[in-house]
Amino acid sequence: MWIAVGIVVAALVVFLLKYVFTTPGPNPFDKDTREPLKPLVNDHKVKNKVLKQGFLANKVPENLDAIVIGSGIGGLGLAVLLAKVGKRVLVLEQHDRAGGCCHTFTEKGFEFDVGIHYIGDLLEHKPFRCMLDQCTNGQLQWEPLDNPFDVVVIGPPENRRTYPIYSGRDRFPQELKKCFPGEEKAIDEYMRLVKKAGRGVWAVALLKLLPSPVAQFLVFTGLAKRLSFFFRMASRSLTDVVDGLTQNKDLRAVFCYIFGTYGNMPKESSFSMHSLLVCHYLHGAWYPKGGASEIAYHMIPIIEKAGGAVLVRAPVNRILFNEANEAIGVSVLKGKEEVHVLAPIVVSNAGIFNTYQKLLPKELQAKPDIQRHLSMMKNGEGGLSIFLGLNGTKEELGLKADNYWIFTENNLDELVTKYLEGEREESVKDIPLLFVASPSAKDPTWEERSPGKSTLSLVSFAKYEWFEEWKDDKVTNRGPDYKELKDALIQTALNVVCQIYPNIKDRIEYVDAGTPITNQYYIGAPKGEIYGADHGIARFSPEVNATIRPQTPLKNLYLTGQDVFLCGFAGGLAGALTCGSVLLKRNLHLDAIGLAKKMKLINTKKEQ
Ligand SMILES: Cc1cc2nc3c(=O)[nH]c(=O)nc-3n(C[C@H](O)[C@H](O)[C@H](O)COP(=O)(O)OP(=O)(O)OC[C@H]3O[C@@H](n4cnc5c(N)ncnc54)[C@H](O)[C@@H]3O)c2cc1C
Ligand SMILES: *[C@@H]1O[C@H](CO)[C@@H](O)[C@H](O)[C@H]1NC(C)=O
Ligand SMILES: *[C@@H]1O[C@H](CO)[C@@H](O)[C@H](O)[C@H]1NC(C)=O
Repeated sequence: MWIAVGIVVAALVVFLLKYVFTTPGPNPFDKDTREPLKPLVNDHKVKNKVLKQGFLANKVPENLDAIVIGSGIGGLGLAVLLAKVGKRVLVLEQHDRAGGCCHTFTEKGFEFDVGIHYIGDLLEHKPFRCMLDQCTNGQLQWEPLDNPFDVVVIGPPENRRTYPIYSGRDRFPQELKKCFPGEEKAIDEYMRLVKKAGRGVWAVALLKLLPSPVAQFLVFTGLAKRLSFFFRMASRSLTDVVDGLTQNKDLRAVFCYIFGTYGNMPKESSFSMHSLLVCHYLHGAWYPKGGASEIAYHMIPIIEKAGGAVLVRAPVNRILFNEANEAIGVSVLKGKEEVHVLAPIVVSNAGIFNTYQKLLPKELQAKPDIQRHLSMMKNGEGGLSIFLGLNGTKEELGLKADNYWIFTENNLDELVTKYLEGEREESVKDIPLLFVASPSAKDPTWEERSPGKSTLSLVSFAKYEWFEEWKDDKVTNRGPDYKELKDALIQTALNVVCQIYPNIKDRIEYVDAGTPITNQYYIGAPKGEIYGADHGIARFSPEVNATIRPQTPLKNLYLTGQDVFLCGFAGGLAGALTCGSVLLKRNLHLDAIGLAKKMKLINTKKEQ
């Protein structure tokens, strides 16, 4: 044991010396770049001039420093970090607008978000908030949700139990205790474990940033697990931990409800991943003021100011390599024609499966290293989204700035297994888990933008295989059988939702559903994944952690976004920060923390 410790210490010293003596790159969080708040732009035409710049060869800037494939938060975030230190970056997006999961679309006059319902950890002066403020020059504002921000509903209509979830380190457990008298000990122990595991997320960043041999050493000697509670709890399933805490089945379900935010049922969830999400929302939840399109809208100008560009309708069909197998650029499909764009660095935000299975030439795809990385990851579960456009204000319809997590019963593992592994025709009649939220009610600017209207968004999971047979049909016309299946899902969901929101019944003006093949088309998710690669227990072995990092086995090719770190808006941005750290040769996580501290200090002084 002590020999191992000795070797680790020696390795760390060598690493630190190397770190001290290689000059780090410039710091994108060097100074506070926030600008005075400009008025919100509601005009779609004005916004589209930023979000929908179509790809043309003559719009590609010269002397690029890097190309980023994909304009999700992982791609835009990285491009902004590089732009902030003067690098010229081209972001290429296959869809007709920028944003990835952060894009919005409008149908029958209703604007809908795709993948942003609530984001945690945005208290003023916290590093995550500081980082986001810097990446949008202070123009993106965040509106807090109500408290309780989540409501867990369990059981059939005749026996429905409702459990409100409050934010606040103290209030969260206090309110749970009110709902579950006699379970105080279980709730306290749950909180203790969640906070302890959640705090250990630094270990993940560390394993991804330490030189690979050091990281691998920590993994193979078992030191990663020994040193980090996160890694120790990562191999335990959520069901396993929670079943050990209480016999109360509703409380078990409430402890687990947030698994929907990363997509693995409790028996397949890593307790540590779950803890991160509970901690993420412990201080509350926020929604982007003006809707999710504001995110990309305020990031793109920073990229452009440094000479870069964000171009859409720019599907990359392959990455270009030289004879030494170093990435040198990409090929973009313009109609049937290939346009080649060159840059010394290529970063992919398209996810590990798209990048390795679709964008590499066959002979590189077959390389043992690439195959090993692929074998460590698995495609995540498919997503189902249902969008409702409603006639009426939030007051008339009884909509609030919160989210409902509705489960048909409290045996979550069995419910989800039965649903996902059952016959398609049966499963669509009984969706055991539904997330329901009103984006319009969360946005204080909505009433001004769409007077007298409201929206509801429903999210659940669905098997890619249920819909695969229609994947090559035209997206707007996949035939009557596909429509019938979608309608069945919509009916099932509406039955549940109308019980929770009785006022919406005769007010539905627009309804449609997005299935895994919809995700495939619009956000480039290879198997319709809702959260990218699977977040099951296997992903949280220190080995996978240390191996899947921004560097790929191919020189000059890097990965950013949710597959590098973790899913979610914050996870995708952490992926960008990790990738930026590698490219700029400095720990940007620490730089963001540093600037947050500095700004907090300045503010306290001002207030005195
Ligand atoms: C329905 C839904 C609800 C969600 N709700 C929340 C929430 O409430 N809170 C939260 O924090 N997270 C939520 N998420 C998750 C979160 O949105 C994502 O995890 C995160 O935004 C992923 O960011 P990314 O940059 O890694 O990937 P993406 O946003 O998926 O970006 C990848 C981009 O790459 C593009 N691309 C792919 N292939 C190519 C190619 N060959 N050429 C060019 N471009 C390509 C895609 O079109 C896409 O724009 C939700 C997701 C979904 C789907
Ligand atoms: C919306 O509801 C109002 C009454 O509340 C009604 O007058 C109006 O016609 C409705 N609009 C549509 C498009 O259904
Ligand atoms: C990845 O991160 C999780 C969180 O600690 C960890 O459990 C897992 O072991 C890590 N995997 C690797 C490869 O480090």
